[in-house]
Amino acid sequence: MMFKDISRLQKIFGVGPLGAVISLGLLTIAAWVDHVLGHSTILANPAPLRVAGGALAVIGLGLYGWSLWTLRNWWTKDELCTTGPFKWFRHPVYAAWITFISLSLALYLNSWIILFVVILLHPIWHHLVIREEKMMSDKFQNEYTEYAARTGRFIPKMLMKKNRVCPVEQAGSLDNKIRRWVQDPTKILRPYIEEGMTVLDMGCGPGFFSIDLAQLVGQSGRVIASDLQDGMLQKLRDKIQGTELEERITLHKCEENRIGLSKDVDFILAFYVAHEIPNQEKFFNEIKSILKPNGRVFIVEPPLHVSKTAFEETVKRAGDAGFTPVERPKVFLSKAVILKID
Ligand SMILES: C[S@@+](CC[C@H](N)C(=O)[O-])C[C@H]1O[C@@H](n2cnc3c(N)ncnc32)[C@H](O)[C@@H]1O
Repeated sequence: MMFKDISRLQKIFGVGPLGAVISLGLLTIAAWVDHVLGHSTILANPAPLRVAGGALAVIGLGLYGWSLWTLRNWWTKDELCTTGPFKWFRHPVYAAWITFISLSLALYLNSWIILFVVILLHPIWHHLVIREEKMMSDKFQNEYTEYAARTGRFIPKMLMKKNRVCPVEQAGSLDNKIRRWVQDPTKILRPYIEEGMTVLDMGCGPGFFSIDLAQLVGQSGRVIASDLQDGMLQKLRDKIQGTELEERITLHKCEENRIGLSKDVDFILAFYVAHEIPNQEKFFNEIKSILKPNGRVFIVEPPLHVSKTAFEETVKRAGDAGFTPVERPKVFLSKAVILKID
């Protein structure tokens, strides 16, 4: 459905009425469960929660009023609204309710059950606004893609992005049995890797994929495991030291915006890395210069902090550098694309 096909009411209210019905329904059920099961208190002394709840309600109502006030100037224009609270939130009207006012209610009522439902409202609303954002993207094209890349839906991006680069202390969350179970590296990579290949594992972290890649390329193949952080490379070094894989995996420290490899490679994996690279344009140009003509690039991005719009922006940047998407593989909880040189 294109933007011009949407009714005026839809343009004004968007998914608001549907979201409001779902949210009010869930909050009513939560209040009823809380009443029937016995009040599930967050704190024995509710006074601090009441103060915090009151403050959040004031902020929420303020944000709601500010959003409507800002929008009044944009109703008649056929332009993307990016001023006032829209500088930080793509949906400040909804954010006022789900991020602030609903939370204020849970805190004020001092109820775990209501708090749980308030947290649950976020993924529900994220899902609801996808269609609305798609229509905005159809209408405003690149302008919207860039706007989406710098704003958050219901929480400003600057609050979500504390650590742009995944810290070494979190290496354990990248290499563990649960992840291996849901994102088995061999299963994910086997369709693309042949014995004897030279593969670049870009932003290898603690080497969750590098080790399986080294097994897949066999004795005659090579894996270049490249990362910005010495601490990540050290974790991988510790894993392969004294094993036969030590010969096959070359550890390579790169710079933030420069990989610095001269060797040609058959395959490049960038798993959960692209969003951490500050200059993606430079990145795609550099990998193009080291990829063999029939080579492939596999980009995978995580579900929460990389939105669909931001992912498509990355694919577009790859396109601008001369890559074409050839496949959209399914990777558990992720967004993925396989690229080849045009
Ligand atoms: C979220 S981790 C993912 C690690 C690994 N690919 C995985 O999926 O297990 C991102 C890794 O990319 C690295 N990284 C971030 N920015 C980078 C850059 N500009 N160049 C190279 N590596 C980078 C980080 O140091 C970190 O180890």
